[in-house]
Formats: sequence, C-alpha cells, structure tokens
Amino acid sequence: MKILAVETSCDDTCVSIVEATPIKGSKVPSFRILSNITSSQIKIHKHYGGVVPTLAKRAHENNLVTVLKKSLGEAGVLKNKKSRIKNQNDKSKFKILESIFDKEPVLMEKFLPYITKIEKPGIDIIAVTYGPGLEPALWAGVNFARALSFWWSIPLLGVDHMEGHISANFLPKIGKMTNDQLPIINFPALCLAVSGGHTQLLIVKNINKYELIGETVDDAAGEGFDKVARLLGLSFPGGPQIARLAATGDARAFNFARPMINSKNYNFSFSGLKTSVLYGIKKLVGKKLDQTLEKNDFAKLSKQTKADIAASFQQAAVDVLISKTIRAARDYRVKTVMLAGGVAANKKLRDQLGSKIKSELYAVNYQLLTAELATDNAAMIAAAAYFRKNRARIDKWKTLTADGNLKIS
Ligand code: KG4
Ligand code: ZN
Repeated sequence: MKILAVETSCDDTCVSIVEATPIKGSKVPSFRILSNITSSQIKIHKHYGGVVPTLAKRAHENNLVTVLKKSLGEAGVLKNKKSRIKNQNDKSKFKILESIFDKEPVLMEKFLPYITKIEKPGIDIIAVTYGPGLEPALWAGVNFARALSFWWSIPLLGVDHMEGHISANFLPKIGKMTNDQLPIINFPALCLAVSGGHTQLLIVKNINKYELIGETVDDAAGEGFDKVARLLGLSFPGGPQIARLAATGDARAFNFARPMINSKNYNFSFSGLKTSVLYGIKKLVGKKLDQTLEKNDFAKLSKQTKADIAASFQQAAVDVLISKTIRAARDYRVKTVMLAGGVAANKKLRDQLGSKIKSELYAVNYQLLTAELATDNAAMIAAAAYFRKNRARIDKWKTLTADGNLKIS
C-alpha cells in the first residue's frame, strides 16, 4: 500500500510517499519512505521573529505543487501524460476544483496546469494533517489534499498532527530499510511529545490508543526555546540556535528555575523557566525586574555569557522533561519510552534521556527516532494514516475541514 501525505500545519510545506507492507501477526507494518520532501519557510518568517499564519498560508499555496512534483518524482510514481486529451467531464471537474480552492486562488492557478499534465499515480490513500496547527496554513494543505483526492478518485483521510509526530517512531531511518532495523515498540509505551505548540506526556497503550497524563500549563517546550532565543538576540526558530550556542557554554553557570519539577503531576511550565532566564539577564545588565529589556542591553553580554545562558537554560529544560518522563515511565510501568516533536531533535535531551533510562529503568526499551523525523515532515503523517486507514473515504474530499484546535483522541 502506498500513502501520499501532505503536511502544512505550520511553516514547512511537506509531501511524502510511504509504502507500507503488512507483517504477519503484527499491527505494525514494515514502512519504507519513498520520498519525504520539505520546503522550509524560515527565510520568510524570521524577519517577524515567529511564524505569521497568513504568510505561511500564502507560501504553502506557492510551494505545494513544486513539493508534490519532487515527491512523486523521487518516489518513482510520476508519469507525464503523452498527450492532453480533452475529456467531456473536464469542465465540470474544473468547476469543482474552483470551489475547493475558493480561498486559495494562487494554489488553483498552479494546480490546474500541473495536474492535467500528469497521469494518476499508483497511490492507495491520500492523507493530510487537519489539525492542530495554524488554521490558515492547515487549510492550504487540506484543500490541496481534497483536490488531489477528488481529481484522482483516491480515498482521503485527515490526520492529527500530534498523532503524526508519535507515529514517526514507527518509521525506519530515511534511505535504509531492512526488517532487522524496524523500531521495537512494546506496549504500553510512554511518549514525550515536545514541539513548538505542544508538550505532552502520553501513555501509548496500543496503536491509536492514547492516554494524556500530563501537559504544559502555559508555553510549549519548543516555544520556550524560541522565546529564550529571542531574549538572546538569536533568530527564529530558536531551538537549533540555542543548541548550537549552548555547545560552547557552561550548563552550570546559571541555576535557572526548574518549574514544577517536584509537583506530583506530570505537567510542565516553560513560561516559568523563560521568566527565570529573563530575570537572570536583567540582573546581568543592571536592570530592575520591572524594567523592560532594550535591544542594546544584549550588547552588554559577552559571547561567552550568552553561551552560558543558552547552555544553562537548555539544561534546565532538559532536566524538567527528563525528570517527569522517568517518573511517569516508572509509575505506569511502561515497556518503551519514545520521543516526538521538534524538540526531540535536541541532542542533549536525546542523550541524557537515554543515559537516565539505561541507569534507572533497566527493563525499559528506549526507542529513539532520527532527528530528521522528529521535526515536521509528511512521512510521519503517512505512518499515522496507515494506522487509521479504515477511516479513509473516497468522498471525504466533500467534507474534510481544518481544525486548528484539534485535541488528540
Ligand atoms: O514539531 P515541530 O517541527 O513543529 C511543531 O509542530 O511545532 O517543532 C518545532 C519546534 C520549534 O519550537 C523549534 O525551536 C524546536 O522544535 N526545535 C528544537 C530543536 N530543533 C527544533 N528545540 C530544541 N533543540 C533542537 N535541536
Ligand atoms: Zn509538529
């Protein structure tokens, strides 16, 4: 079975084609990533210090057809039509496409000349992220997938973005695929899902069976990295920048707060940690706590001090994430611990969680997904779609809508 997946919930335009081959006696198939194309919009958003939803939508409209073309080509399922034979139905089909792309005229303009030039590919299901995320951005992907499903008469399925992040754990490393490299995930498993919009601890009881046991009470972990990066004058997205700067810093230089680390629940507060860093910086530059920081205040910090702040912040964030994860793994007696979401690309988090599991949870298996599959991509959406394939419908293009506030079920 081949699944074509589309992901546009934030600032990456992604299209992937994944092949799933069932394994006898297992609910988890053998996945093969045939293509996983991502076009980043960082250049557009970094001037604003964050993602601007309407600009993201416009960029998705501009990029989707190019990304689709690359994805089909790389997967080897792209065939150009020999000649464009006009079909009697074309006119009425164009009208329907126009209504699907009612709010995406730029996308319609690019879609029509391309789609009429190529043959229907050998794809069994089309999947698309329909939430949670930035609603205008989501709509571009949802309407693109609706149009593809309608045009090719291929069943369509909406996928939860967070379920996609978790499902990335079932994928093999890009490019490599032998059965002995298949991920080992024993249930119940615990997943620490840490992205730009979410911080969640979930018990994965089985395929598609989740129990949310903890989440952030304010900012998400990735948001924390992004906001502290801004305090240090670094550009967006902050996570990779903080990690890079932290590599030359001393993680013990500043003792930032570790909010909620001792609370009896599995919740987090990254706004509290950011405030602790903010106060630390104000103290260093001689400002009172109620005074606002100015841009030229950063100039008073040496490069080494900035690196020390980045390293100390990163360590505080990692400490809280690991502490709660280890406690939850013990309390729920899970067999596997896994990571998901953009912050799961963080090397310190990956390494330190691994060491802690090894030394404290002997029987627990640490399933570590590759960093490239932790950040937003469409292969993870294809994997999640496989596990929900029974929900795919040929006429779903008529009703599928985006839902920015979708909650994992
Ligand atoms: O999952 P993702 O790609 O998009 C969302 O669904 O939000 O996550 C993006 C977040 C951003 O906040 C980014 O700063 C963070 O993941 N991130 C990292 C790293 N790479 C990306 N945070 C810490 N360390 C990293 N290496
Ligand atoms: Zn994400």
